[in-house]
Amino acid sequence: MEIFLDTADVDYVAFYKSFIDGVTMNPSLVAKSGRDDYEGLIKEICQQISGHVSIEVISNGYDDMLVEAKQLAKIYNNVCIKLPCTFDGLRACRKLSSDGIPTNLTLCFSSTQALLAAKCGATYVSPFVGRLDDIGHDGVALLEEIVNIFATHEYETRVLAASIRNLQHLIQAALIGVNAVTLSPQILQQCFDHPLTIKGLEIFKKDWENKQ
Ligand code: E4P
Repeated sequence: MEIFLDTADVDYVAFYKSFIDGVTMNPSLVAKSGRDDYEGLIKEICQQISGHVSIEVISNGYDDMLVEAKQLAKIYNNVCIKLPCTFDGLRACRKLSSDGIPTNLTLCFSSTQALLAAKCGATYVSPFVGRLDDIGHDGVALLEEIVNIFATHEYETRVLAASIRNLQHLIQAALIGVNAVTLSPQILQQCFDHPLTIKGLEIFKKDWENKQ
């Protein structure tokens, strides 16, 4: 299972790079980074990681999405183009896939959107677990549905669980058998932390210092 870091912060990528396979970002994360040299930011992140770095298009229409996607793909060889699960986004996915450009279909909230992403040759589809939970739906159930549909029909599109808000989301996604997850730096950090590990270390240290 691939682990991506959901961030546009170069320092977090450098800090966690031993544990991640790639990076995903979105316009909100880029805005939060405070960086205005967008291309420079993308290059700095791509250089640190050999796996995919998903960069989202801002354009809405099919033609504009393709122009923007082609510019983004030229910035670095591991750029993966993030497109929304809309009519135009899916059409653009079909075209980019046939041109050999990797794609990540984002803002996926239903199995039918995921099915279309697979039919259009997407490299990844990103169901948003937390945002579905926020409106009273079951994000994990959607992941399960998509993983089953893709397995039944042997689609190659990889299921990338996004909008992961807690460790239970992550564990459930892993148990279901998603191909990838994207985690905020805060959630990734929580994967390391356990109070019994800290307590155990303190006990070992104390016992070692008090040994005869
Ligand atoms: C995924 O690619 C998105 O950037 C992200 O996971 C969205 O998460 P959020 O719903 O916590 O903003």
